[in-house]
Amino acid sequence: MTKIILAGGFGKLGLAIQEGLAATNYEIVGILSGHNHESQYPVWTTRDQITETADIFLDVSTPATVFENAQWAIKHDMAIVIGATGLTEAQVTQLRDQSEHGILIVPNFSLSAVLLMQFAQQAAKYFPDVEIVETHNPKKIDAPSGTAVQTAKLIANERINSAQKTSYGEARGQRVSDIPVHALRLPGYIAQQSVYFGGIDEQLTLTQSTTSRLAFVPGVLRSLAGVEKINDLKIGLDSVL
Ligand SMILES: NC(=O)c1ccc[n+]([C@@H]2O[C@H](COP(=O)([O-])OP(=O)(O)OC[C@H]3O[C@@H](n4cnc5c(N)ncnc54)[C@H](OP(=O)(O)O)[C@@H]3O)[C@@H](O)[C@H]2O)c1
Repeated sequence: MTKIILAGGFGKLGLAIQEGLAATNYEIVGILSGHNHESQYPVWTTRDQITETADIFLDVSTPATVFENAQWAIKHDMAIVIGATGLTEAQVTQLRDQSEHGILIVPNFSLSAVLLMQFAQQAAKYFPDVEIVETHNPKKIDAPSGTAVQTAKLIANERINSAQKTSYGEARGQRVSDIPVHALRLPGYIAQQSVYFGGIDEQLTLTQSTTSRLAFVPGVLRSLAGVEKINDLKIGLDSVL
């Protein structure tokens, strides 16, 4: 069994991970959380209280805690998978310099989101005219989503021909790497992203969606398997697929 310390294990993503790891070869030896919770696992509310050792520190806590957690895990000789957002580029560089075991930062655990980005990069070589539409519930603060921004940047890197000039203006979306990105925030809608490519008398649309946090579990399992095979810092689920 591979031993896991889970940070943020009682958040929305953390609870899905607890459920997803239950019948696997990964054993949660304890959970680091902001508050105490009733649990079958030991629960710690500060790093000083952690009594167990583990092979992997899996962090889905908060932007405010992720960097110091990672430094603690490095000091305690663990590989690290980071799903929580919020690390700055300087912090990533610092972790890269300090790493002795693998550190895997995964901004998006969704396999369908990662595959959509790969397919979109392939299509961008042939279809330079492209727009992105992403939908989330109104509680999502950032817009456009980090995944939409990343998708636009990857597409822009792969385009061989330039896109046709189109009009600007508020209704034309926010330009990310010169690609219009449209963000919808509506109750009752699931997390979804579509990439629309237009060619001469033909259209190609790629769509991915996640309907609950359980969608992230297969990507978490691949990340845990992947981090044990690297001994430096890597970013993105695709780096271990
Ligand atoms: N990579 C991905 O695919 C992906 C997907 C979804 C979300 N995320 C990211 O993952 C993080 C968690 O998302 P979420 O939706 O699960 O958020 P959430 O529901 O707000 O959960 C955050 C959890 O962090 C815990 N926490 C607070 N202080 C802590 C500390 N000092 N040490 C350890 N844990 C602490 C909280 O514990 P208490 O409940 O005890 O207060 C809470 O349960 C966010 O950064 C989010 O952006 C990543």
